[in-house]
Amino acid sequence: MLEDHKIAEARCFTVVHVFLVLIIAGTANSENSLDTDKEILLNLKSFLERRNRINRGRYVEWNQISSNPCDWDGIFCSSDGARVTGIDLSDNRINGEMFKNFSALGKLQYLDLSKNTLTGTIPDDLNGCHNLVHLNLSHNILEGELNLIGLTSLEKLDLSTNRFRGDMQFSLPANCNKLVVANLSTNNLTGRIDNCFDGCRNLQYLDLSANMFTGYIWTGFSRLVEFSVSENNITGPVSASIFVNCSLLALDLSENKFQGEVPWEISNCNNLAVLNLWGNNFTGPIPAQIGSILTLEGLLLGGNSFSRVIPESLSNLKNLALLDLSRNNFGGEIQDIFGRFTQLKSLVLQGNSYTGGIYSSGIHRLPNIYRLDLSYNNFSGFLPVEISQMLSLKFLILAYNQFKGTIPPEYGNLSQLQALDLSFNDLSGSIPPALGNLNSLLWLMLANNSLTGEIPHEIGNCDSLLWINLANNQLSGAIPHELTNIGRNASPVFESNRQSDLMIAGPSECLVTERLLTVDYSPFGFLYTIPTRKICRSIWNQLLKGYGFFPVCTLGSSVRTYQISGYIQLSGNQLTGELPPDIDKMQNFSVLDLGSNEFYGKLPTEIGKLPLIVLNISGNRFSGQIPKEIGNIKCLRNLDLSHNNFSGTIPRNLNELHELSKFNISFNPLLAGNIPGSGQLSTFEKESFLGNPLLHSPYFRLDNQLPPPPPSNENEFWMNRGGFESENEFRMDEDSLNSENILRWEALLTGYGCGIVFGVAMLYITFRKGEPNWFDAVLDGIHRWRAKRLLKRNAPRRGD
Ligand SMILES: *[C@@H]1O[C@H](CO)[C@@H](O)[C@H](O)[C@H]1NC(C)=O
Ligand SMILES: *[C@@H]1O[C@H](CO)[C@@H](O)[C@H](O)[C@H]1NC(C)=O
Ligand SMILES: *[C@@H]1O[C@H](CO)[C@@H](O)[C@H](O)[C@H]1NC(C)=O
Ligand SMILES: *[C@@H]1O[C@H](CO)[C@@H](O)[C@H](O)[C@H]1NC(C)=O
Ligand SMILES: *[C@@H]1O[C@H](CO)[C@@H](O)[C@H](O)[C@H]1NC(C)=O
Ligand SMILES: *[C@@H]1O[C@H](CO)[C@@H](O)[C@H](O)[C@H]1NC(C)=O
Ligand SMILES: *[C@@H]1O[C@H](CO)[C@@H](O)[C@H](O)[C@H]1NC(C)=O
Ligand SMILES: *[C@@H]1O[C@H](CO)[C@@H](O)[C@H](O)[C@H]1NC(C)=O
Ligand SMILES: *[C@@H]1O[C@H](CO)[C@@H](O)[C@H](O)[C@H]1NC(C)=O
Ligand SMILES: *[C@@H]1O[C@H](CO)[C@@H](O)[C@H](O)[C@H]1NC(C)=O
Ligand SMILES: *[C@@H]1O[C@H](CO)[C@@H](O)[C@H](O)[C@H]1NC(C)=O
Ligand SMILES: *[C@@H]1O[C@H](CO)[C@@H](O)[C@H](O)[C@H]1NC(C)=O
Repeated sequence: MLEDHKIAEARCFTVVHVFLVLIIAGTANSENSLDTDKEILLNLKSFLERRNRINRGRYVEWNQISSNPCDWDGIFCSSDGARVTGIDLSDNRINGEMFKNFSALGKLQYLDLSKNTLTGTIPDDLNGCHNLVHLNLSHNILEGELNLIGLTSLEKLDLSTNRFRGDMQFSLPANCNKLVVANLSTNNLTGRIDNCFDGCRNLQYLDLSANMFTGYIWTGFSRLVEFSVSENNITGPVSASIFVNCSLLALDLSENKFQGEVPWEISNCNNLAVLNLWGNNFTGPIPAQIGSILTLEGLLLGGNSFSRVIPESLSNLKNLALLDLSRNNFGGEIQDIFGRFTQLKSLVLQGNSYTGGIYSSGIHRLPNIYRLDLSYNNFSGFLPVEISQMLSLKFLILAYNQFKGTIPPEYGNLSQLQALDLSFNDLSGSIPPALGNLNSLLWLMLANNSLTGEIPHEIGNCDSLLWINLANNQLSGAIPHELTNIGRNASPVFESNRQSDLMIAGPSECLVTERLLTVDYSPFGFLYTIPTRKICRSIWNQLLKGYGFFPVCTLGSSVRTYQISGYIQLSGNQLTGELPPDIDKMQNFSVLDLGSNEFYGKLPTEIGKLPLIVLNISGNRFSGQIPKEIGNIKCLRNLDLSHNNFSGTIPRNLNELHELSKFNISFNPLLAGNIPGSGQLSTFEKESFLGNPLLHSPYFRLDNQLPPPPPSNENEFWMNRGGFESENEFRMDEDSLNSENILRWEALLTGYGCGIVFGVAMLYITFRKGEPNWFDAVLDGIHRWRAKRLLKRNAPRRGD
């Protein structure tokens, strides 16, 4: 104790020394009162105001209505009102470094600065807050190594979702007896954890997930109530002795490098509600004794190498709602026992290389299932009609198998269904009109099958349908104009999802989220990297509950809102006809991908009224002018009009689409006129304009082009861009080989690199924060970066 004080004092000394206010600080400590507390709070207020000139939080009102700090928003005082004891500035739009004088508030017990944008490190000053009981700095971007050794009174500590790094060993006070809750999740902490928490005798909740911890497991964890070390790099076996006395309610060891057998003694944890061992290298049998943990509700054993026998005892677990045995490579026919888990609500068996049908097991008759995920197996045969009797089904995920035959129209009776994913199978025949009865359907995923016929106009009755992917089939005919009615009212589904918390999100959910969102190839291609499980879980949650998670622009303006963003993915079919002009009804959709079809006629000008992020109509027979209204879609990032028959000139206002990062109008040979020499369009290279001999660019020549074959996928496209050949070609076309040009090309290449990194980073941050104000800040950054890129590109040219 005394030791800690000395160390903390030594640290304070250094800080004060740095600030050269040694004497003042010395005297301030002796005359503590509400007045000095108030003075410090006013210092804090002006400190925050200096760093946050616009968009300030609630602290701006301090001292305006009342002069007593105990009346101020977010300030708590002792019961006698004599001293300030708590500060809650959570979610107060605070940017910049942390205030360096909290320790001057001698009675501070509670400090919550979570959900802001704090940067830099935790100042040493904080170690002087010896009375601090509750510290919450979660959801910021604080970094550096942790040092909390002065915080000996701490009971609750939440540092989750920051960028702290370094070793835990030396971060906590040697005496952490008071600590009850510690959440260090989602940081960049390293080193071993085997003995860091031995001294914390009262610890009950410890969350170390999503860091980079290594070494062996801390053997003391089973005396806690909740312990998670998921998404780290912990290795070694889990020894039986750990579980001698176990009081755990939730244990999460998922996504590490544990190996060996799971000891049967784990059944000593007879209060466990959730056991998550997903994504390790556990081998051997699944202990039958797990069947005696009668409280078990969630059992996640997927992503391991357990042997094939599923103990009969597990079917006794009356409370078991979620069973995840995905990716164990079981192979062969699906085990019969699964048909006897009548209590289950969620059964996840994806990625097991199962062959044969699912009839023999009887899982198509489980009465209470709301989520059945059999994707990524080798099931074959016809889709069981009986599945239509599983009336609780909300998520039916059968993608990536070899199911053949037609889609049973009876599936239209599954009135609760929210996601129907049959994509990547061998299904044929037409889409049953009965699917139009699916009132709760949010996702209809039928991509990569051999479906034929027209899109039934009944699908337009699917009021909730927001994500429809029919890509790569042989669908023909026109888009029925009723289709513009989909997604007009998903509110009842979102409402009911907000009420219920049915969705226990396991790691397998990530795969589904990723697929339903990015669909492997585009259309949300700009969302490619989904970093951690927590983030994809939160996206999944937001999707199901109808909260927009990336901004789209409202009609004709660049005001961003977080509304729902549906997609329509119909590429790679034989669809034909003109687009229905009432397409502008589809205000809840932000991705329209109609590429590689046989659509013709004019692109309706109404398209400019949609809040689009992606518009891809490449590889069709659209003709006439490119509607200038596209220039009104201020948030458009990805515009591909290539391989059509557009004529006339490029509308000038496309040049003001400042978000545009992919643009392609190549191979519209009738397009004429000039490519602007400045503005957004001038940032695109020749590849965006190829095969248009009548177009003129101030920078490169487009006539006499031999049209190369269109890129078959994005990767190839990128490779071509960065490749040696095109670099050469580019320089030759410039009619010069001066160093300026070479430099410019390199700058551009690195520019693109940065763009990707920045994009991913932005996304990462956005998902981590999910905060609009934040996003705008980042976007500002991007604008600035873009502007720079433009400048970089244009500057030498102006000198030409
Ligand atoms: C902390 O606050 C006290 C009281 O207002 C003041 O005297 C002291 O200078 C401050 N210290 C620092 C490092 O700002
Ligand atoms: C810390 O703050 C976050 C966000 O405000 C909140 O969700 C979390 O529950 C808090 N942590 C603790 C331990 O109270
Ligand atoms: C720890 O924090 C993360 C993110 O801030 C949260 O998702 C998680 O539920 C928290 N853990 C506990 C045990 O409260
Ligand atoms: C985490 O640390 C590693 C290496 O120490 C570094 O490469 C990585 O960029 C860091 N990640 C974050 C999000 O700070
Ligand atoms: C985890 O450990 C492996 C070696 O076992 C190493 O290759 C890998 O980089 C580590 N990952 C992290 C995130 O530390
Ligand atoms: C288990 O609990 C019993 C009774 O509380 C106690 O006597 C024993 O020492 C504990 N064993 C371990 C290994 O903690
Ligand atoms: C899993 O463990 C087995 C044997 O214990 C070992 O051969 C294998 O390499 C491990 N796999 C991984 C991915 O670590
Ligand atoms: C499963 O199907 C895939 C793709 O069709 C195939 O490559 C693989 O060999 C099949 N596996 C088994 C076990 O049949
Ligand atoms: C299910 O749907 C089919 C065809 O769509 C229909 O003929 C049948 O009556 C329905 N069955 C029930 C039980 O509703
Ligand atoms: C999906 O279908 C397209 C076109 O038929 C094909 O090029 C692509 O390889 C398919 N994707 C997969 C993963 O099978
Ligand atoms: C968009 O979705 C919301 C929520 O479901 C709904 O209220 C609204 O009517 C929809 N807008 C359109 C134009 O379909
Ligand atoms: C547009 O779709 C075509 C074909 O469907 C595809 O090849 C192309 O990569 C897509 N364009 C963009 C910019 O994503």
